Amino acid sequence: MSKPLFALLAGLCAATLLAEDIKLPAPQKTGGMPLMEALAKRATSRRTQGPEPSAQQLADLLWAANGITREDGKRTAPSAMDKREIEIAVLTAKGLFLWDPEANTLIENPACVDLEDQRRDASAFLILYYDKGVQKRESALADSGFVGQNIYLFCASRGWNSVFMGSIDRKKLATALGKEEDEILFAHRIGVK
Ligand SMILES: Cc1cc2nc3c(=O)[nH]c(=O)nc-3n(C[C@H](O)[C@H](O)[C@H](O)COP(=O)(O)O)c2cc1C
Repeated sequence: MSKPLFALLAGLCAATLLAEDIKLPAPQKTGGMPLMEALAKRATSRRTQGPEPSAQQLADLLWAANGITREDGKRTAPSAMDKREIEIAVLTAKGLFLWDPEANTLIENPACVDLEDQRRDASAFLILYYDKGVQKRESALADSGFVGQNIYLFCASRGWNSVFMGSIDRKKLATALGKEEDEILFAHRIGVK
């Protein structure tokens, strides 16, 4: 790589490092579509190009996916041995963030890798991954499925399109997240309407 290009890229990454984390608003936990209707409407739709989600929409989506529901920190999704190992990274047009459910905050992740071939103009691209030291793989695969179903039902209840994705570039996503030691399981592409 030429020196000027390297300097430019290093500068861009440094600028991203300075970008602010996003404190999300409290999720809206009441109302919405009755569960039986959401189940009837749950479907994969691959038309996920859409507008940038608002902070409130992201807060609601992430809480539905795997948010904290109880004093002891348990979640909307179950997890084998209560390990709560499924982590969610959020890619939008704004950038790549790691979701901290305790702080209800999106932590800016200085990706320095172009992930547009993964997001493909979706409103949001959620990456589900886990620390291999924390959970058995078979359990993590099952646990991520519960999170995926929560996302599907939430999207159905909002009338949004979504698709759970196994065909993703796991190596590229792990590199972008700086999580080469973790395993990227699945992603969920979301189209906000
Ligand atoms: C583990 C898993 C992986 C999937 N991977 C993809 C994928 O890579 N690309 C895609 O378009 N759909 C993917 N899907 C969505 C399925 O194709 C979809 O669920 C199936 O066609 C049934 O449609 P439905 O979700 O509307 O019931 C995946 C679903 C699951 C459960």
